[in-house]
Amino acid sequence: MSPDLDQLVAAAGAAFAAVSQPAALENEKARFLGKSGAITERLKALGKLPPDEKREQGARINAAKEAIERLLAERRQALAEAQLAERLSAESIDVTLPGRKRSAGGVHPVTRSWIRIEEIFRSIGFDVADGPEIENDWFNFTALNSPENHPARSMQDTFYVDAPDAGGKPLLLRTHTSPMQVRYARMHTPPIKVIALGRTYRVDSDATHSPMFQQVEGLWIDENVSFADLKAVYTDFLRSFFETDDLVVRFRPSYFPFTEPSAEIDMMFTSGPGKGQWLEISGSGQVHPNVVRNFGLDPERYIGFAFGSGIERLSMLRYGIDDLRIFFEGDLRFLRQFN
Ligand code: DAH
Repeated sequence: MSPDLDQLVAAAGAAFAAVSQPAALENEKARFLGKSGAITERLKALGKLPPDEKREQGARINAAKEAIERLLAERRQALAEAQLAERLSAESIDVTLPGRKRSAGGVHPVTRSWIRIEEIFRSIGFDVADGPEIENDWFNFTALNSPENHPARSMQDTFYVDAPDAGGKPLLLRTHTSPMQVRYARMHTPPIKVIALGRTYRVDSDATHSPMFQQVEGLWIDENVSFADLKAVYTDFLRSFFETDDLVVRFRPSYFPFTEPSAEIDMMFTSGPGKGQWLEISGSGQVHPNVVRNFGLDPERYIGFAFGSGIERLSMLRYGIDDLRIFFEGDLRFLRQFN
């Protein structure tokens, strides 16, 4: 090889070594071996030489060309290997790392109570119904014997929705699950035995009141359902719910527009840590004749009882929790204890 060609081969080797990307390498290749690359130009120039020189020069140029091709092939191989090594290390899996846990969700204590309540009432023949949280004035108040402007309405202040119902009155967030009595009874024929659980809302907030809370409504209507049935059903429910027979129940006269007579249900544990203390647990009563009429039924023929209990309240007693707000804070340290 002539010194000129030696230099060209060395220049190609240096150029190939300087690039680190395969695409850049192909560009460098074009400078030497491409259509107007240095080697190609020299081969083209051979035509002007006399035959002897042509053969000699041609052999030299070809040797240089082969040398450059070899360098190119080596560099291609090296770059491909480097790329593979890089990918392998980037995508490598450290099999010695501890596995990532897929943590299981748990059931909220209030939801646990909800499920228990459903199971218990289903087991004694009650249907379980569900209804709207955004309610209209008629179902939430009027149908439950709280006429417009009646002072009893102020027992339950609520949140209003910026949208009117069919009668032009603003819709509201239901203050209790009692409207479900009316909705359900209007769609079924007696005997009616139903509970309805769900969220309810009031303008209230402290350690024992939350603007959103959950209730279970119960309704049993037939031709001959009495307060004795209410007491039996509710006492049985409490004993199942708290998993103890060591509790007693009493009715304390009270007032609700939709029942007459009305009673607060109190309970007392007769053993265990909380024994000897009366606890208010539910509103209840014999369904008012006006409400039975709003069910679409004849109050001379149909009679029964209803109750409405707070699900958080039941949960607090069951688990010994003294601040209602902890149910809604989402603190995992609290919630994990139930799962
Ligand atoms: N709706 C009442 C409240 O939220 C609770 C209640 C009392 C429900 C008496 C009833 C009932 O069905 O008969 O305070």
